[in-house]
Amino acid sequence: MTRVKRSAAAALVLLLGGIGHVGAASVPEKDAAAHAAASAYSPQGADTCLGCHASNPGVMAIFHTKHARPGDPRGPFGHGGLQCEACHGPGGAHVDAMGDTSKIIAFGPKSHSTVQQQNANCLGCHQSNAAHDWASGAHAAGDVACTSCHQLHTAKDPVQTAAGQIEICAGCHQAEHADLDKLSRHPLREGKMACTSCHSPHGSTAPAQLVRNTVNETCTSCHAEYRGPFLWEHQPVAEDCTNCHNPHGSVQPALLKLRPPFLCQTCHEGAGHPSMLNTPQGLAGGGAPSAFLLAGGCINCHSQIHGSNHPSGRAFMR
Ligand code: HEC
Ligand code: HEC
Ligand code: HEC
Ligand code: HEC
Ligand code: HEC
Ligand code: HEC
Ligand code: HEC
Ligand code: HEC
Ligand code: HEC
Ligand code: HEC
Repeated sequence: MTRVKRSAAAALVLLLGGIGHVGAASVPEKDAAAHAAASAYSPQGADTCLGCHASNPGVMAIFHTKHARPGDPRGPFGHGGLQCEACHGPGGAHVDAMGDTSKIIAFGPKSHSTVQQQNANCLGCHQSNAAHDWASGAHAAGDVACTSCHQLHTAKDPVQTAAGQIEICAGCHQAEHADLDKLSRHPLREGKMACTSCHSPHGSTAPAQLVRNTVNETCTSCHAEYRGPFLWEHQPVAEDCTNCHNPHGSVQPALLKLRPPFLCQTCHEGAGHPSMLNTPQGLAGGGAPSAFLLAGGCINCHSQIHGSNHPSGRAFMR
């Protein structure tokens, strides 16, 4: 608490003494014209805002972030920057009305502003770098605000940590959250991976906003031993790992969608050896149990199920 206050005071001194005022006069003309009809920037920039908001440590925490670096010409607080109003929009009317909250861009579910208004100032600075794929993503299409994921008045933005993502992403994606509690899952809860190990949060041209072009490229960026090409390919493996695995979690071992032999039998159901269990000759038909199934399931024999480089590995037995 004391620390916050002391740094807050330092920030104030910096603002008052170091940067000086950023007023309507230093707003680029084009922007000024665009905003003139709606509202005006406050004449004293952040100093005006802090006149009323400096007692809120939650507000002052912005000075612990990259956004408040005075020497960064790209940032809100760089020379000539709009400071608080770079994100909150022109605040003149809000100030004149003694803090009328409907006259300033606020963020979050209770905001008076539309999601587009909330995102516009962020994109003004970030479209060319972090958020360049934003427009192509499902989150833009789904009207998700930048600030549904990001918190900016805080030294450490939680969504940039694995634990933070489990909370924040899962708030909207409950099925994937539930999968994380299953027997088999990727080590997200241990902090060794995050949703963003596989997904690009802002958007991508890949299916499901994956970090690589395809599911298989994404998976084999870590599981290189299954990348292939193999002398003997198992067709569903080369095609898409999610034919057999659920990437988020499963009640079966090894993230499998079904337990062998059932998994295998969803595709291999011809009469005879591979699918005895569900054929008239097999258990379900009242026949004698297949020796193959008694052996404990298909992968006891077909152990190289992801593909084989052995000259006689056609049936993935070696
Ligand atoms: C005259 C005092 C005053 C000044 C100056 C002032 N505000 Fe406010 N502001 C308030 C009050 C009062 C509220 C409502 C209570 C609160 O959230 O603290 C408020 C609320 C806000 C909110 C939250 C709105 C919401 O819906 O939750 C934001 C954002 C904000 N102000 C930004 C600014 C910015 C940016 C500036 C400078 C351009 C500024 N304020 C200047 C008094 C002021
Ligand atoms: C005036 C330009 C500007 C505006 C407006 C702006 N940013 Fe930034 N932002 C920056 C700069 C500059 C950085 C620091 C980049 C760096 O050093 O890599 C940054 C950094 C970030 C970071 C990374 C922070 C970190 O600690 O790693 C996030 C997240 C971010 N901005 C989100 C937003 C969001 C969301 C908005 C809108 C509410 C927004 N920005 C508005 C310029 C801006
Ligand atoms: C679905 C959640 C989500 C949304 C919505 C979102 N972001 Fe992000 N953003 C993230 C995550 C997660 C990271 C950390 C990236 C990583 O770990 O690969 C990030 C990183 C960033 C960074 C820092 C990038 C860097 O390389 O340091 C910036 C800047 C940023 N986001 C801006 C934005 C802006 C602007 C918007 C709105 C147009 C936005 N974000 C919307 C989740 C989101
Ligand atoms: C880089 C963008 C950005 C800048 C710069 C910025 N804010 Fe904010 N502000 C936000 C976002 C986003 C929120 C929503 C809460 C959060 O993300 O932490 C917010 C929330 C607020 C709130 C509401 C807080 C509450 O507790 O309800 C106030 C008041 C506020 N900002 C005032 C200011 C003032 C004053 C400044 C300048 C000293 C400023 N902001 C600079 C983006 C910004
Ligand atoms: C505020 C709610 C919200 C939050 C928070 C959120 N999402 Fe989403 N997400 C959506 C919406 C809405 C869609 C659009 C599709 C839908 O309706 O499910 C979506 C879609 C997706 C998709 C599918 C993309 C596609 O092209 O099919 C992925 C992947 C995704 N989100 C990952 C994430 C990750 C990772 C995070 C956290 C970093 C996150 N989401 C946070 C609301 C959210
Ligand atoms: C190991 C990689 C991986 C991780 C980690 C991961 N995902 Fe996914 N996710 C995928 C793949 C691959 C798909 C597409 C195939 C599928 O739907 O099974 C996908 C699909 C999705 C979809 C779209 C589902 C649909 O029905 O369209 C959402 C939403 C999603 N993931 C959210 C998340 C969230 C939230 C997290 C973190 C809790 C997360 N993912 C972690 C790989 C991953
Ligand atoms: C960022 C790296 C990374 C990516 C990308 C990745 N994985 Fe993993 N995977 C891991 C780690 C780490 C483990 C845990 C290994 C361990 O505990 O020894 C793991 C474990 C597994 C397991 C074994 C789970 C168990 O319970 O035994 C399977 C199956 C798996 N991954 C499949 C996939 C699939 C399918 C994809 C693509 C959708 C994928 N992985 C993407 C890192 C990754
Ligand atoms: C035809 C079904 C099928 C497909 C498709 C498939 N797998 Fe598997 N995978 C299995 C089976 C069955 C196991 C469990 C038996 C084993 O450990 O070999 C397994 C186990 C794994 C394991 C855990 C191995 C261990 O030692 O714990 C990883 C990692 C894995 N698969 C990754 C992948 C990747 C990456 C892909 C896509 C390139 C993929 N799988 C495609 C059936 C499949
Ligand atoms: C998503 C469908 C699918 C699943 C699930 C699947 N396979 Fe396959 N499998 C195929 C296809 C397609 C081929 C190629 C068939 C062909 O060439 O006649 C194949 C080929 C094979 C072959 C080689 C056959 C040959 O004559 O070359 C074996 C052995 C095999 N699979 C075993 C398994 C086992 C064991 C499992 C369960 C772990 C399994 N498969 C799961 C689709 C699947
Ligand atoms: C006891 C060992 C064993 C078990 C268990 C086993 N197989 Fe086989 N499988 C074989 C042998 C041996 C072959 C013949 C290999 C060859 O032709 O080189 C074979 C061949 C196959 C073929 C190739 C097609 C054919 O008819 O030649 C498929 C597909 C197959 N098995 C699928 C399965 C499935 C699915 C299961 C589980 C339901 C399974 N196998 C369980 C030993 C086994």
